[in-house]
Amino acid sequence: APQVRVGPSVLAGDLAMLATETRRALRAGADFVHLDVFDGNWIKGAFTFGPMVVRALRRHEPKAYLDVHLCVTQPAQYLDELAKAGASRVLLHFEALDRSPAVAKAAAQLAHQLGMEVGLALAPQTHLDSDVLEAAESFDAVLAMTVTPGFGGQAFMHEVLPKVHQLREAFPHKSLEVDGGITVRTAALAAAAGANEAVAGTAVFGAKDLRRAIRDLRKSLER
Ligand code: DX5
Ligand code: ZN
Repeated sequence: APQVRVGPSVLAGDLAMLATETRRALRAGADFVHLDVFDGNWIKGAFTFGPMVVRALRRHEPKAYLDVHLCVTQPAQYLDELAKAGASRVLLHFEALDRSPAVAKAAAQLAHQLGMEVGLALAPQTHLDSDVLEAAESFDAVLAMTVTPGFGGQAFMHEVLPKVHQLREAFPHKSLEVDGGITVRTAALAAAAGANEAVAGTAVFGAKDLRRAIRDLRKSLER
């Protein structure tokens, strides 16, 4: 099974201190850092930062694994700039790729040509039909959103767990990531369903002891 990894989402940290928060998470043992790019359009009213800020952060952290979650319309238009900015992996929403296996495959191939890893992100309401499964074949990872994308601090949606299980059955060797409402308890549920990577915002940056929070989340994934 793929490696267990914990990635704090800096959305729950102090965004005005992005580099400081990233370093804090990495020093506390984070395996990667998760960056939520919102364009104010795909999720109405939610606007964070884009490739230029990813590039600025990369200069501070030359070695970090930067996991960039694109909650934007037409995500493929940013791939070139994100590759130049130093993104390690980009997560593209199937719902923003016209729900088309052909469009998704082309975007995944472009990301690979640009030297990045690429994950297919699925909103909670997106079911695993044959189009989604076909699209996912071209991706290194699949992200099952366990909240409706938009903001941190929401409750984990247990109804997504059967989808995580189906994804693991369909793709035994792919990285399977969950994002949203992850706690020590829900990370264990997601791991039991087959997830090996967890993104956690509030559970890490809301904790007094970041190192302990990350360690506890990793333990939950390993069980
Ligand atoms: C939600 C984002 C998540 C968010 C998770 O739209 O994709 O990455 O930061 O935050 P928590 O862990 O607080 O649910
Ligand atoms: Zn995210």
